[in-house]
Amino acid sequence: MRKAEVLALLRESGGYLSGQELCGRLGVSRTAVWKIINQLKEEGYGIEAAPNRGYRLLASPDLLGEGEIASRLRTKWAGRNLIFRQTTGSTNTDAKAEAEKGAPEGTLVVSERQETGRGRRGRQWFSPEGSNLYFTLLLRPACAPDQASMLTLVMALAAAEAVREQGLDAGIKWPNDIVVSGKKVCGILTEMSAEPDFIHYVVIGTGINVNQSFFPEEIAETATSLRLEKGERIVRAQLLADVMKRFEAAYARFLETRDLSGIRADYERLLLNKDRPVRVLDPKGEYEGTAAGINDNGELLVTRQDGSTECVYAGEVSVRGIYGYV
Ligand code: BTN
Repeated sequence: MRKAEVLALLRESGGYLSGQELCGRLGVSRTAVWKIINQLKEEGYGIEAAPNRGYRLLASPDLLGEGEIASRLRTKWAGRNLIFRQTTGSTNTDAKAEAEKGAPEGTLVVSERQETGRGRRGRQWFSPEGSNLYFTLLLRPACAPDQASMLTLVMALAAAEAVREQGLDAGIKWPNDIVVSGKKVCGILTEMSAEPDFIHYVVIGTGINVNQSFFPEEIAETATSLRLEKGERIVRAQLLADVMKRFEAAYARFLETRDLSGIRADYERLLLNKDRPVRVLDPKGEYEGTAAGINDNGELLVTRQDGSTECVYAGEVSVRGIYGYV
């Protein structure tokens, strides 16, 4: 996509880039470059054209178009097949439909707005337009179906690291909520199509509250956005590109062993539950203990008052001092 290439070149150069250089790098005519520059200006990019010096990128709007995302991606495969929808029902549903049609691993569906955004446990995911990130990554991992839930933790690590790159002190509430100042900024919903011993595909849907400045009353106590915490707007496309880059690296480590041993230390460093009291809402009965960390399968290790250790796989865990603790 030519527009994305022009944007990437202008951004990389950090200063003026001559028309001639742009033509040479893209292999197109000066008129073609001029047309692309004009299209970008119409989309809201601030591009200065100075005689004898060339073009310089002064400002980018907070757009989430294909060009804006593609021009920032620094991955080998994650997000390289990019599907952008201005409005959709749910990017998870879209990604599953793409998977059924044979879309490759790394296909990324991104939307500005979801009409039926889905959260975990059948909850809704509030998905207003123009300020957040809603995206789903399609994977076809060579692992067993019972290993797929670990991929949620791989994405949690990638998202938390990318948010931290923004200078925010983000942590992970096991298994996959990203939390800043005790409030949730990101949720992840993983879905899978599999046979007993074979995965057709996995889709990992991630919602990040980026520039949202208002939350409905029912979630205002427990949710926040990166903008509210940082006090300034964040370039969504860059954040998305950073998540993809980090995911690619963490996923490669996951595939080496098909467990979390390669990323466990990094994950535990950001694990907010670690060494803190937790209440495990186990269907067989609630109990309290202290979270010691995770094991290589991503289960939360909880030390009970009698000194025994439980590996928590499913049940919901609440954490003292963090949102959601009852
Ligand atoms: C949670 O409940 O914490 C998980 C929220 C997951 C939301 C994301 S937004 C992109 C993708 N599409 C959806 O419908 N849900 C996920």
